[in-house]
Amino acid sequence: MSLMTKKELIEALSPDTDPAPIFALADKVRRENVGDGVHLRGLIEFSNYCRRGCHYCGIRAANTKVRRYRLSPDEILDCARTAARLAYKTVVMQSGEDPHYGAAALAAIVARVKKETGLAITLSVGEHSREAYKMLRAAGADRFLLRFETSDRKLFSLLKPDSDYDQRLRCLAWLKEAGFQVGSGVMAGLPGQTAESMAEDILTFKRLDLDMVGIGPFIANPDTPLGRAGSGTLDAALRMVALTRIVTRTTHIPATTAIGSIDPQGRQKALRCGANVLMPNISPTQHRVDYSLYPGKICTSEAPEQCADCVDAMLASLGRTRAEGFGHSLRNGVS
Ligand code: 5AD
Ligand code: FES
Repeated sequence: MSLMTKKELIEALSPDTDPAPIFALADKVRRENVGDGVHLRGLIEFSNYCRRGCHYCGIRAANTKVRRYRLSPDEILDCARTAARLAYKTVVMQSGEDPHYGAAALAAIVARVKKETGLAITLSVGEHSREAYKMLRAAGADRFLLRFETSDRKLFSLLKPDSDYDQRLRCLAWLKEAGFQVGSGVMAGLPGQTAESMAEDILTFKRLDLDMVGIGPFIANPDTPLGRAGSGTLDAALRMVALTRIVTRTTHIPATTAIGSIDPQGRQKALRCGANVLMPNISPTQHRVDYSLYPGKICTSEAPEQCADCVDAMLASLGRTRAEGFGHSLRNGVS
């Protein structure tokens, strides 16, 4: 079943198909390939400035309702210290495409975090040049997340009018060339997205030979051009997670914040149908509400310690444990 055809994937994504056997198979494939350990990646949302105008996203440049903030290098380092104290092994530094933080400035922060904490570092800072990616890797960043958002080119250009699909894939190739462990992903339930294009998303994950795949439901944000569109469903997002696990086998797949935001049990359900990663928020509490990609986002009033206790309780309730080690890629040839 790992070599699912496009036709089989489309059928499995249909709301008329019983998802129970798909979820059970995904859970088995997850256990056999990545085990019962769940990797915790501490998420630092360090700037909500963004030069882009993606139609789905709350921190798009044109959204004047957002109170913009940017953490200083010292504040970012403080967050990383918090991650180390909470025994997380990875920090994920995420931001909008903030021109203030060019590659050199980011590289300097990465080097400081690495030197002081020794944690694995994941960047999620959007499109940069080939040279910039090399510099960030040389500074000590281990992994990079860059979702392609949808494999449907027409939909991509409608939703990301100032981005180019081919350039996005080129960036993913540059990241791999620079030696990063590379993650990508999509939203499920975008307006105009078909089961065929979601099947193609999954086949694209496989073709790109990714190390990590993040999937969340699209959640309509009233302060964006897609404010009146319908949101994606938990069911569609879970089917995507499960089928991605079945097809890609060894990738690291997070139970995303967006899945947890459309359903209080969303992350638990994702962990039981293929996911093996959680990304607890370690951003300073006062800024969390302003990293408002979509409404109803969880963890906006909690402190880092509260999220740590929450995810540990979640793991205990599921009979899972924190994974040992850094949680690097399990793909052959990548360490
Ligand atoms: N709903 C769900 N996910 C969103 N993202 C951005 N806006 C939304 C939204 N309205 C996701 C994108 C991006 C990631 C950081 O957040 O997939 O890559
Ligand atoms: Fe933040 Fe549950 S993970 S409150």
